[in-house]
Amino acid sequence: MALSLTELERPEGFERLVLAEDADAGLRALICLHSTVLGPAAGGCRMWPYGSDADAIHDVTRLARGMTYKNAMAGLDLGGGKSVIIGDARRDKTPAMMRAFGRAVQSLGGRYWTAEDVGISTEDMAHAAEETRFAVGLSGASGDPSPWTAEGVFRCLKVGAAHVFGQDDLSGRRVLVQGLGHVGMSLADKLHGAGAKLIVTDIHADALAEAEARFGATVIAPDQVFEQAVDIFAPCALGGVLDADSVGRLQARLVCGAANNQLATDEVADLLVERGITYLPDYVVNAGGIISVASEIHGKPDGWRLERLTAIAGRVDEMLARARAEGQPTTRIADQMVEAMLRA
Ligand SMILES: NC(=O)c1ccc[n+]([C@@H]2O[C@H](COP(=O)([O-])OP(=O)(O)OC[C@H]3O[C@@H](n4cnc5c(N)ncnc54)[C@H](O)[C@@H]3O)[C@@H](O)[C@H]2O)c1
Repeated sequence: MALSLTELERPEGFERLVLAEDADAGLRALICLHSTVLGPAAGGCRMWPYGSDADAIHDVTRLARGMTYKNAMAGLDLGGGKSVIIGDARRDKTPAMMRAFGRAVQSLGGRYWTAEDVGISTEDMAHAAEETRFAVGLSGASGDPSPWTAEGVFRCLKVGAAHVFGQDDLSGRRVLVQGLGHVGMSLADKLHGAGAKLIVTDIHADALAEAEARFGATVIAPDQVFEQAVDIFAPCALGGVLDADSVGRLQARLVCGAANNQLATDEVADLLVERGITYLPDYVVNAGGIISVASEIHGKPDGWRLERLTAIAGRVDEMLARARAEGQPTTRIADQMVEAMLRA
């Protein structure tokens, strides 16, 4: 059986939801276009063993909508989209499956650009790219987006520090980095360079040993994150780390990190305000990676990426000033800024 594309009923506020199937290649995937108001939709492809089609639809729509907000806030001429391949990346993925996925992306005629996400490597994208010119994040092109994500988080964190502590100088500030992966380790390096005192945690001993040796970081256990007397918390591991319980215990005055979906629920934004903790929304500060991917889409040089990172830091400054003046959570102000851009 060849590739078949089925247009599914689109959720309200979304442009398209497409089911792509190719039984010979073992492909069952969903491609969701949330908005192409600002340009073609761009967002990664995730492979995950979803328990049901409904779970996959829930994930792909939530992620696609998130990309609209992230791309708009980053000042990119790109809309929001995302794709998910239903299956176990370790067991089910094959080059033929990725090529079939590439054909599905190609058949959308450039309305959607794809790249790596959870479960998908640069090698997998290279297979997809054999069938489509709308696959990016390829090695030898813009490459690993993580260092760009870390640079963006670092710049935004300094803007946040200026608002919260009255100065962006990080020397002597106690910063807790949760998760020393691709982004977290690079961020820790920048923070160390800026004179911050690092407190770090991870579930892998080798990452902790590296941070201890390179930055003189204090290592803590993963379950001790919310018991630390720190100035700044940088979540760079998982989503959902900020909930009613953890925010109640968090001692930092500023939160700025790369992890996606840090707030367990929208209401946590109000709790953070009540506790006097300034939160820099994840989708605003972690856009360095998609900026890097966008430079590949548009064929732009390094200077272009840096300009956009500088612009994000400027938007964080504006968002914090408005949040303070209006007594609103930063998340609400950020969403309003994006919605105004989309309307314009
Ligand atoms: N890589 C990017 O460019 C990028 C861009 C935007 C957002 N993000 C988000 O940033 C986060 C980090 O991305 P990454 O690419 O560095 O991922 P990664 O997988 O390289 O690193 C994650 C690190 O977190 C650690 N970890 C996992 N569970 C933990 C726990 N309970 N406590 C402490 N540490 C734990 C892992 O051991 C790993 O070292 C993710 O949420 C990702 O979605 C990444």
